[in-house]
Parts: sequence; C-alpha cells; structure tokens
Amino acid sequence: MRICLIGAGNMATQLGMALLEKGHQIVQVWSRTQQRASGLASKLNCPYTAEISSIISETDIYILAINDTAIESVLAQRSWGNTLVVHTAGSTPMNILAGYCINYGVFYPFQTFTIEKKVDFDRIPVCIEANTPQNLEVLNGLAQSISQNIKLFDSNQRQQIHLAAVFVCNFVNHFYAIGEELLVDKGIDFEILKPLIIETASKVVYQSPESSQTGPASRNDKIVMDKHLAMLADYPDLKNLYSLISERIIQTHK
Ligand SMILES: NC(=O)c1ccc[n+]([C@@H]2O[C@H](COP(=O)([O-])OP(=O)(O)OC[C@H]3O[C@@H](n4cnc5c(N)ncnc54)[C@H](OP(=O)(O)O)[C@@H]3O)[C@@H](O)[C@H]2O)c1
Repeated sequence: MRICLIGAGNMATQLGMALLEKGHQIVQVWSRTQQRASGLASKLNCPYTAEISSIISETDIYILAINDTAIESVLAQRSWGNTLVVHTAGSTPMNILAGYCINYGVFYPFQTFTIEKKVDFDRIPVCIEANTPQNLEVLNGLAQSISQNIKLFDSNQRQQIHLAAVFVCNFVNHFYAIGEELLVDKGIDFEILKPLIIETASKVVYQSPESSQTGPASRNDKIVMDKHLAMLADYPDLKNLYSLISERIIQTHK
C-alpha cells in the first residue's frame, strides 16, 4: 500500500520501518516539527513535510501516530477525502474520526515502542477496527502483512486492554526505575536486578501471575515489611506505594 505517516515519534518510527520492510511504500511523513519529520523520512527514504497543507493526497491510507490529544486538531486542519484514515491509539475511540473522514478505523499494534529499539512485529497483536466491512478488510490485509496476530476489538475493549497495559507495562517499567533509584542511591549497580526482571516476566508466559507471586506480602511477613517501610523513611511516596501494593497482595493471597 501507499502509506502516509502522520507523526514522527515512537509509533510512527517503528510502524513505518516495519511496513517499509514488508514492501509497502511510505509516500510521505508529516510532523509538526520539521527536524523530526526529516529524521524519520531519512530512515524511511521518503519525502516529508511539516506543513499540513502539503500533506500528499496520493496515498491509500493515512496513519495518524500522534498524541491522542492532538488527533482531532490535526484532523480538523485539512480535508481527507475518501482516503482511509486510521489512528494508532489504545484509549481513543474510533468514532473520534467520524466527523472528519468518510473511511476510517483504528490500527493499534499492541506493544511498547520507543524510537531507538527495533521490534519484531511478527507476533505483535495488531488490534483493528473500522467503520465498514470493506475498510476492515483493507486493515486486515495491512495488519497481516506485518503480523500473524490480528485481533478485532471495538473501542471499549481496546480501551480496557490499554488500561491493563498501563499496569503491566508502564507501571512495571516505572517500578524498574524505582528499583534503579533505590540501588543507585546506595552505590549498587542496577545490573543485579536484570536476571530477576527477566525471570519474573518470563514466568507469566506459562503460569498465572497470581500463582507466580512471591515476596514478603504474599507470605504476609510483617517483620520484613516493617523493615522495608523503615528503610523508606526518606521516600514518603514510596512508603505509601509499598503499603498500598503490599495490602493488595495480602488481600489477594489470603
Ligand atoms: N509508543 C508506544 O508504545 C505506543 C503503543 C501503542 C500505541 N501508541 C499510540 O501511538 C500514538 C503516538 O504515540 P508515540 O509513543 O509515538 O508518541 P511520541 O513518540 O511522543 O510521538 C508523538 C507524535 O505526535 C506529535 N504531536 C504531539 N503533539 C502534537 C500536536 N499538538 N499536534 C501535532 N502533532 C503532535 C509529535 O510531534 P513532535 O515530535 O513535534 O512533538 C510526535 O510526532 C499515540 O496515540 C499512542 O497512544 C503508542
């Protein structure tokens, strides 16, 4: 397909590279920041623009990979004709596109993307939704060209999946950052935690998270938990977080 990418951040970069590798043509990258647009265009070997009025019309699909809060304002600034327009957001409903486009949908590769880290799309679930069966068919074909794992979800289901993802990905990653902070403050390298992080994540592939739970809260070991809380005296927010999560684990494992 001829694809015009709207946005030049994490999603646009990784999705653009995956689509290009599978033989699609990236006909243009638009980003409000010229430097970001040109940076991604050079990776994808395609033209770019930072002007909304210069966005190309000769494309089969526009993929909006921009902040959720920017989707409507960008949509409102030009006419999209009959061309299929999709966004890539988990918690933004498909119908946000309805007032601006005739043919529209959602193309949501369900993974964590950052500009620097290349990902293998082959097994990434690609969640699709469209306003007509024909558009769904087009999105299904596009999704199948990069992944073997296509899922049909409506906007409510997608939002629920995104909410769960915030816990298992975004929050967990922030906990890695907390772990790093607690060690670095005492001159210990974060490296020591990496085998534990990898084993914890790989365990839930074959057993339930609940049965994988270990640690003082799952044993309701108040002596160890009190020691930890005392060690967090200088971090009142972490102390609260520790108590809150420990209580949740204790209740779950009663
Ligand atoms: N990254 C992920 O792991 C991931 C996974 C699934 C879905 N998504 C979805 O993908 C979309 C993009 O996320 P991302 O991670 O790629 O974000 P990102 O790396 O921060 O990139 C956001 C892009 O949106 C542009 N932008 C921000 N505010 C704008 C505005 N007011 N007007 C026009 N453009 C604006 C940015 O332009 P500048 O560079 O000029 O700021 C940039 O090109 C979001 O809807 C997100 O929910 C992301």
